[in-house]
Order: sequence, then structure tokens, then C-alpha cells
Amino acid sequence: MSGKQDFREGVRRIFYRLMGLFSLFMIAGAILIYYMIDPDFSAFKSEKNTYVVMDAEEDIDRIENGIHVRTGLKEGEGLMVVVNNCTNCHSAKLVTQNRMSEARWNATIKWMQETQNLWDLGKNQDVIVSYLVSNYPVEDVGRRASLTNIEWYELED
Ligand code: HEC
Repeated sequence: MSGKQDFREGVRRIFYRLMGLFSLFMIAGAILIYYMIDPDFSAFKSEKNTYVVMDAEEDIDRIENGIHVRTGLKEGEGLMVVVNNCTNCHSAKLVTQNRMSEARWNATIKWMQETQNLWDLGKNQDVIVSYLVSNYPVEDVGRRASLTNIEWYELED
């Protein structure tokens, strides 16, 4: 009878070994599948979210070919002060399509403060106005250029 018991013992051992092996395969398989989905195991890296936020902030105010992409304003001293104070209520286009002298800019700002709830700009007002005057100067339209090379013809009466 002990032979039968040995046999049973043997079967049980083999069974446990197979179970052990099987669970190893399952674990390895799970890791493999995870690796195929997320090869650099980024879900386990805690810095992941910080990277994303920093990228986004860098993108928002990026400048390409001397133009602040988000607003279309020209790169120049005081750009970000203008972006932060003059593009909240209306598009920057409303600002740039207006070519004004320093005095008229100050008057426009005063008008917005009196009628449109624009806040007190403090020292930033000078920064903003000099940015606008130097990057968007008054276009000297004046008279059109004189005509040249004209072939005059005689009027008949
Ligand atoms: C609190 C809101 C607000 C802010 C901030 C603001 N504006 Fe305005 N602005 C207005 C409103 C409202 C108008 C009128 C828009 C319209 O007529 O459709 C206006 C109009 C203008 C105009 C057109 C004026 C005209 O005569 O037609 C210019 C130029 C202008 N803003 C420049 C600026 C500049 C430069 C800044 C930054 C210092 C600025 N705005 C910030 C509210 C604002």
C-alpha cells in the first residue's frame, strides 16, 4: 500500500510544481503585457505630472519668428506685461491694429479705466506704452507718392 501512497505524494508534488510554474508564467505574462502597453513604466514615475505641467506652461508663451504665438504680439521689451494686461478683455488684434502716439495710448488707457473697468496699471503703464509705441509705431501715411512717367494726352473739346 505504501507504493500507492508514494505515487500519490509524487503526483501531488508534480501538481504543486506545475502550479508554481504556471503562476510564474502568469506573472511574467502580466509584466510582458504591461510592458507592451507602457514600455517605460511611466505610471510608476511620480515626476510624470510635473513634466506635463511644465511643458504646457512653456508652450503657452512660446515665441516663434519673433511673434508671441498665443496673441500674435511682436517680441519686445514689456511683451509679457502687455500680454498679461491687454489681452484679457479683447483680442490683441484690437491693440495692434491701432497705431497711436504715446499721448493717445495714455488717453485710450484712461478711457478704458473710466468706462471699461480696466484696472490701475501703476508702473506697468509706462512699460506698456513704450512697448506699443516702439513695436507698433504710428504709420506715417501722409500723401500718396507723386505719380511719375505719366503720358498726358490732349483733351478734345
Ligand atoms: C478690463 C477689460 C480691458 C482690458 C484689461 C483692456 N481693455 Fe482695451 N478695451 C476694453 C473694451 C471693453 C474696449 C471696447 C471694445 C469695443 O469697442 O468693442 C476696449 C478697447 C480698446 C481699444 C480700441 C479703442 C478704440 O478707440 O477703438 C484699444 C486700442 C485697446 N482697448 C487697447 C488696450 C490696451 C493697450 C490694453 C492694456 C493696457 C487694454 N486695452 C486692456 C476693455 C479692456
